[in-house]
Amino acid sequence: MNVQRDSLLPLLQEIQNELGYLSEESINRIGRSLNLPTSKIYGVATFYDQFRFEPKGTFHFRICHGTACHIEKSARIIQEAERLLKIRQGQTTRDGMFSIEVVNCMGACGLSPVISVNEKYYHGIQPRDLKEIIETCKAKTV
Ligand code: FES
Repeated sequence: MNVQRDSLLPLLQEIQNELGYLSEESINRIGRSLNLPTSKIYGVATFYDQFRFEPKGTFHFRICHGTACHIEKSARIIQEAERLLKIRQGQTTRDGMFSIEVVNCMGACGLSPVISVNEKYYHGIQPRDLKEIIETCKAKTV
């Protein structure tokens, strides 16, 4: 058993909970303290969807892709969000305004498909609804 590697996952989770993402600096620091090459740490972290490598945007879109939402075609919502925001899941727009995270279940399966933008939840969402939600976000910044 490798104690250093066993320590890695909880450490990564703790840092992500604190910062909201895994910064390059935090990965370097973990590497030094656990005596692991950063390439190994990135290898572990990229294996899990839960880790981000960029800070969240001002408007953080969480899109549920759990079973109930998947049945309600959440993949189309993910695709449309990526198309409109010109980023992939796990990324943040260059201006720092928007980010997308795909999650497994948001605990509202009966109202699927579900997304949230920061603290606000949207139920029974359709891909065509995203444009207006994004415009509403933009309007809040002017
Ligand atoms: S699967 Fe989407 S809310 Fe549960």
